[in-house]
Amino acid sequence: MFVCMCYGITDKQIKNAVETHGVGNMRELKQIMALGSQCGKCIELAQEVIDNTIIDE
Ligand code: FES
Repeated sequence: MFVCMCYGITDKQIKNAVETHGVGNMRELKQIMALGSQCGKCIELAQEVIDNTIIDE
């Protein structure tokens, strides 16, 4: 599923960033991918994906 339409970033890519790069919040996610820097509509959903991935671990 696409989370960020502007950059074509999927929930799998975000999950991968959490699991392999230790990303824990939007600020850290933005350091490794462009997500959220265009229209910003994806930020809320991206935060949910981060939170859910951390809970699943
Ligand atoms: Fe992510 Fe627009 S959908 S910046």
